[in-house]
Amino acid sequence: MRLRLFKVSLFLASACQIFVCLAQKIEFRSDLFSTFCGGEIPLLEGWEFSHDGKSWESVRIPHDWAIDGPFDRTNDLQHVMIVQDGERVARDHTGRTGGLPWVGEGWYRRKVELPADAREAEMLFEGAMSQPEVFSDGMKIGEAKWGYAPFSVTLPVKPVQTVIVKLSNLPCSSRWYPGAGIYRPVTLRVNPKFKVEDVFVWTERIEPGKAHMRVRTPNGERSFTIDNPKLWSPETPHLYTLEPEGIRYGVRTVSWTDGCFRLNGVKRKFKGVCLHHDLGPLGAAFNEAAFRRQIRLLKSMGCDSIRTAHNMPSRLQLSICDEEGMMVMAESFDEWRKPKCRNGYNLFFDDWWRKDLEMLVRFCRNHPSVVMWSIGNEVNEQFDPAALTLCREMQELCHRFDHTRPVTQGLDRLRAALDNGYVSEMDVPGLNYRLQFYGESWTNSRHRIVLGSETASTVSSRGVYKFPAIETMGATWDDGHCCSYDLGCCPWSNLPDDDFAVQDDNPWTIGEFVWTGFDYLGEPTPYKEYWPSRSSYFGIFDLAGIPKDRYWLYRSRWNEKSSTLHLLPHWTWPGREGKVTPVYCYTSYPSAELFVNGKSKGRRTKNPSSRLDRYRLRWNDVVYEPGELRVVAYDAKGICVDERVVRTAGKPSRLEVSADRLKLKASSDKTTPDMAFVEVRIVDEKGNLCPEAANRLSFSAEGSVRFNSVCNGDQTSLESFVRPSMKAFNGRLVAVVEALEEGSGRLCATAEGLDSATVVFSVR
Ligand code: GAL
Repeated sequence: MRLRLFKVSLFLASACQIFVCLAQKIEFRSDLFSTFCGGEIPLLEGWEFSHDGKSWESVRIPHDWAIDGPFDRTNDLQHVMIVQDGERVARDHTGRTGGLPWVGEGWYRRKVELPADAREAEMLFEGAMSQPEVFSDGMKIGEAKWGYAPFSVTLPVKPVQTVIVKLSNLPCSSRWYPGAGIYRPVTLRVNPKFKVEDVFVWTERIEPGKAHMRVRTPNGERSFTIDNPKLWSPETPHLYTLEPEGIRYGVRTVSWTDGCFRLNGVKRKFKGVCLHHDLGPLGAAFNEAAFRRQIRLLKSMGCDSIRTAHNMPSRLQLSICDEEGMMVMAESFDEWRKPKCRNGYNLFFDDWWRKDLEMLVRFCRNHPSVVMWSIGNEVNEQFDPAALTLCREMQELCHRFDHTRPVTQGLDRLRAALDNGYVSEMDVPGLNYRLQFYGESWTNSRHRIVLGSETASTVSSRGVYKFPAIETMGATWDDGHCCSYDLGCCPWSNLPDDDFAVQDDNPWTIGEFVWTGFDYLGEPTPYKEYWPSRSSYFGIFDLAGIPKDRYWLYRSRWNEKSSTLHLLPHWTWPGREGKVTPVYCYTSYPSAELFVNGKSKGRRTKNPSSRLDRYRLRWNDVVYEPGELRVVAYDAKGICVDERVVRTAGKPSRLEVSADRLKLKASSDKTTPDMAFVEVRIVDEKGNLCPEAANRLSFSAEGSVRFNSVCNGDQTSLESFVRPSMKAFNGRLVAVVEALEEGSGRLCATAEGLDSATVVFSVR
């Protein structure tokens, strides 16, 4: 055996690859608000919140009143029959919306002072959950319905006024955790010269050495050219500023009409994931550092695009995608007129959809990251041929405000959608699962393309392995967890391998958006009636942002810059001695050989004619014995190039910590608080992860950082995110700290009987 590149790295060293790659990235830009037309004034501080309009507490927005809990099965307990999932009787769906107390009313108030020269003033809400009504000194000045839509209200021009925002969340109004409160930023515009939604800048044409740009404003249209333009793409997220408007934009084109999707003329397939808007332990309250971390983690996997499922992104999210290089499918609705949830958007659809969709397009169209609009997800109108006119009207509305991007929607009732013209109507037909309909959809598509708008819905719990390792659909276990051999999906979905094959075998597919990038609060399929399951199992990352095994499967395919070599399961199985314990390897290399305590278990090579061996290497008959699992990878020429080792762990001995960032920005009223995410691992005395450790950890922060929240990724945990103590889940968890004033700060993690660990931050 010749080892050209000999790397003795532990199984878990692979997780460090992520942190290394994060550390090399550029640091954060300051004040993203200044990129919206030369500056809107953020109004993040100085708010008060009340549940009853009587007792008030000071809060900073973005704010989510429900995330502190407590979890309870009676919170929005939905007694429903989910027809879409094939259910025939109504049942108690516990945890469908996260089991958190988000239903009910909430009030926010703030004193707003206008400068002496104010002639015109407006407050802009990026999103408030939900049905916001806004009052100034007791007089109603505006309202909206959809909690995800941006909206603005005109303020009376006076030196001082008290603004009150009333929010109302109805039960049975969502299919996931929607959050509660003013969960996105609010800004103030005084005598604005330009409004970002009234300006549209786009790339008309790129030729060698020159880009032809065009701008539309309320005052007319103009053209300009850029010599030697630096094009925007996920790999080169270059940005320009439009003068005099002060709007940030990118130079790039998209096209979708010649049987493929092209960015800047280059054909590519989306390596995408769907994302809900919650940020795990932070709830729906938007935070720049938390979202940027998600985007960077996704990029480390080779992911190049996200779908904002199933609702509108905020401008801050898009600005971060612009900067980091992440394409976005910006989605609007999860239902139209025909309800999925009794009190869902269907109640408001007829009166509001035009306004809400127009806001989405006008607010987001200057962001180069946005490459596609989506007018809906799995709407029940697919069954109704008459509603095709509505679908057409929605697509046309997007085109009216933006002629440069295609429009899609996520279709799931494919027989009906094909027969009723929904597939052929769309610029880009988006298929949710249903791989058997790809071919027919392609034949019916206008532009000879098919997008996997939603794929996989494979379920797993990080670090949990069930035996035997077999394919399942909708399987459940007594502990409320799913298996990480990545062989379990839903009755309507499929395994990642099936999507890869369809994408590889059909040149007209334009890529996929996996359901989902991260676990999210609510929708704990397949444990729909099992309490305490309260968050999803679909994520490639868990709710804390720790990669599950599937991360490496997608990475092995998507990340073309660095190689992937990952072994599963862990190798600490007291009681399994002598039992069959299959070993899988997710790798970008074509073949590998496995050794158990030095004995070869054979070499495996990816096999295109075997469904589950085309993208994974599997040793199905390995018998467990404690010790060492070693995999050696071979390149296409048959040369040994890499290896990984996993060892049986001893008793928990100490804590190990690693933070995604050590330098943080001091708190400012212009941005959301800067945050660092600290992963804590319980290891034995040699540093091996104890893969089933569930010790209780406690946190204390001092100096320039404070403890914000903690999350262990366990879908069945009812522990509070905001108390500085939580049990580890399978040896790991993530604690979040928030930056305060300039100086140095530290977070210390302790656990009874184990050596503690500390991270030191510098805050500037
Ligand atoms: C899809 C739906 C998603 C999610 C997913 C779970 O049908 O669009 O919102 O529910 O199923 O598999």
